Amino acid sequence: MDTTTHNSQTLMQIEDKYGAHNYHPLPVVLAKGKGVDLWDVEGKHYYDFLSAYSAVNQGHCHPRIIEALTDQAKDLTLTSRAFYNDVLGIYEKFMAEYFGYDKVLPMNTGVEGGETAVKLCRKWAYTVKGVEENKAKIIFADGNFWGRTLAAISTSVDPSSYKGFGPYMPGFSNIPYNDLAELEKALEDPNVAGFMVEPIQGEAGVVVPDEGYLRKAYELCKSKNVLFIADEVQTGIARTGKLLCCDHEGFKPDILILGKALSGGVLPVSAVLARDEIMLSIKPGEHGSTFGGNPLACKVAMAALEVVRDENLAEKAEHLGQIFRERMQVLVDKSDLAVLVRGKGLLNAIVINDTEESSTGWDICLALRDNGLLAKPTHGNIIRFAPPLVITEEQLHTCCDIIEQTIMNFKKS
Ligand SMILES: Cc1ncc(COP(=O)(O)O)c(C=O)c1O
Repeated sequence: MDTTTHNSQTLMQIEDKYGAHNYHPLPVVLAKGKGVDLWDVEGKHYYDFLSAYSAVNQGHCHPRIIEALTDQAKDLTLTSRAFYNDVLGIYEKFMAEYFGYDKVLPMNTGVEGGETAVKLCRKWAYTVKGVEENKAKIIFADGNFWGRTLAAISTSVDPSSYKGFGPYMPGFSNIPYNDLAELEKALEDPNVAGFMVEPIQGEAGVVVPDEGYLRKAYELCKSKNVLFIADEVQTGIARTGKLLCCDHEGFKPDILILGKALSGGVLPVSAVLARDEIMLSIKPGEHGSTFGGNPLACKVAMAALEVVRDENLAEKAEHLGQIFRERMQVLVDKSDLAVLVRGKGLLNAIVINDTEESSTGWDICLALRDNGLLAKPTHGNIIRFAPPLVITEEQLHTCCDIIEQTIMNFKKS
C-alpha cells in the first residue's frame, strides 16, 4: 500500500487517473470529520452542509455509533443469512417497534431498499390483490430519484440518469409530482399495485409538495387497494423535523423504505418495513443479499437510531430549520441572486437566479468552500443546504452568516 502523505492536488489527480469518471466532486479532499465539522488534508476547516446526502444526520463519527461499530467488529461481522446470528432478531424487533411496523427486511444501499419495495409490491399484487401474473404496474412521480440500478433509472425523467442505458424495465408509469388529479386518473387502472413517492423530492432540488398532498394521495391509494410506498431514504430519520416526513401528515405508508442515516453514515444500511400481509408475500429464497442484516450493520443501526431519539434530533431539525429559512428569507429579500428558499426541517434549498445549465450554482459552492462551508448544487441552479442535525444554534447562525456574505459578495463570471 502507498503510505506516502499526499496533498489535495495529488489525491485528485490519482482519482482522476485511476477511478471511473462517474462523479464530478467539488474540488476539496476531506480527511477528517467530527459532528458538523470537516477538515481537508491540509487541515482547513469546513462546516458540512450536505451530510453525505443526508446520511450523516447524527454528525460525522458519532462516538456512540463508532463504539457500536468497533465493539461488534471484534465479535462477528458477517454470517450471511445462511445461518442465524445473535443480533439480527434483536435488531428486527427494535426496528419494528421503533417505526411501528410488523416486520422489516434488511438490505444495504438505498436503491436496494427501493428494489425490495418494488418486488414486495409486485408479489403482493399477484398473491394478495389478485392481479394477473406479469401485469402489475407501479406508478412513480416525475422528478423522482431513487438510485442508479436499471429499475431505478427506468422511472427517471432525467436524461443524465437514463439516457444510453436502455432498454428499460416495463411495468412502471409516471405522473407529475404533487398532482392528485393525475394520481386519481392513474389509479383507475385495476392493475396498479403501488405508488412509490418521495415525501419531498431531494435530488430534484428539495421540491416540497403542497400541504395535504401526501395524505390525500395515501387515501386515494387506500380507496383503490393500491400500496403507498414512501421512499424516505433521504427524508426519513429526523431530517425534515419529524422521525419520518410522512409523520407531518399523520399517516403510515404501507411500505416504508429507509437508508442513509439509518447507519449515521457509517455503513450502507437500508431497510424496508411493512405489515405482515405484504411482507409475508415473499417466501424463503425469493429475495435477499449476502450483507443484508449482518450483525455489524444491525448494531450500528440500533446505535444510530438511539442517538436520534436520545438527542431529540427531529425536534432540533424542526426548530433549527425554521431559523435557517427565516435567515435565508432575509437574504432572498435583499439579494438578486437568491430567489427562493424552501424546505422542511433541515432539508432546505436556495434557488439561484440563473438557468439550470449555468455554472452559477457551482461557482457559488466553490466560493462557499473557500469561505469554509461545503454544499453542492442539484440541477445547476439549486443549492441544497442540509447540515448534520447535531449542529448547534450558534453554529447554524455562523453558517448562515457565511452563506449570506458569500452570496452578497458573489460576482458572476
Ligand atoms: C430518495 C432517495 N432514494 C434512494 C436513494 C438511493 O440511495 P443509495 O445511493 O444509498 O442507493 C437516494 C440517494 O440519494 C435517495 O435520495
